[in-house]
Amino acid sequence: MKSCVFYFSRTGNTKRLAETISETLEIPVFDISASQPSTVGDFDLLIVGTPVTGLRPAVEVTAFLDKIPEGTGKKAIVFCTYAFTKGGAMKHMSQQLSKKGYITILSVGKRGVKPSKNDFREVIEEIGKAVEKHQPPSSGN
Ligand SMILES: Cc1cc2nc3c(=O)[nH]c(=O)nc-3n(C[C@H](O)[C@H](O)[C@H](O)COP(=O)(O)O)c2cc1C
Repeated sequence: MKSCVFYFSRTGNTKRLAETISETLEIPVFDISASQPSTVGDFDLLIVGTPVTGLRPAVEVTAFLDKIPEGTGKKAIVFCTYAFTKGGAMKHMSQQLSKKGYITILSVGKRGVKPSKNDFREVIEEIGKAVEKHQPPSSGN
C-alpha cells in the first residue's frame, strides 16, 4: 500500500508529528503549503494532519482537500495537534475526505503546547497498528 503524509503547520507542532510519522513508517512527507493537490492521487493511503484552528481544521487544509482527486475506496488517516480541544476538526476532515470517496480508518490527535517527538509515541503506535491492520493481503509472490 503506497502511503504518504501531508500536513499543514504554523508553529511546527503538526510538522514534527508529520515528520515522526514519515520517519517511522518510512513514507514520504509533504507540506501542504508547497504541494500540488494532484500529488495525493499517486498514493493509496493518505495520512493528513492539521493544527486545530477554531475547533476546525486549518483553512489551508480544507482548501487543499477540496482540490485533491477523487479517491474512491482509498483509505485515509486524519491527525491533528491542538492546545485544549479538538472540537469537530477531525470529523470535519473525515467528512470532507468521504466526499472524495476516502474511508477514514483512524482519527488521532496530540494535545500539548510544544510536543516533542517522544510525546508522539502513543499516536505513532496507533497509526502503525491501523496501517498494519488495513494492509492488503500479500499477493503471495
Ligand atoms: C488561530 C488559532 C486558533 C486555534 N484554535 C484552537 C482550537 O480551537 N482548539 C485547540 O485546542 N487549539 C487551538 N489552537 C492551538 C493550535 O491548534 C495548536 O497550538 C497546534 O498544535 C498548532 O500546530 P502547529 O504548530 O502545527 O501550527 C489555535 C491556534 C491558533 C493560532
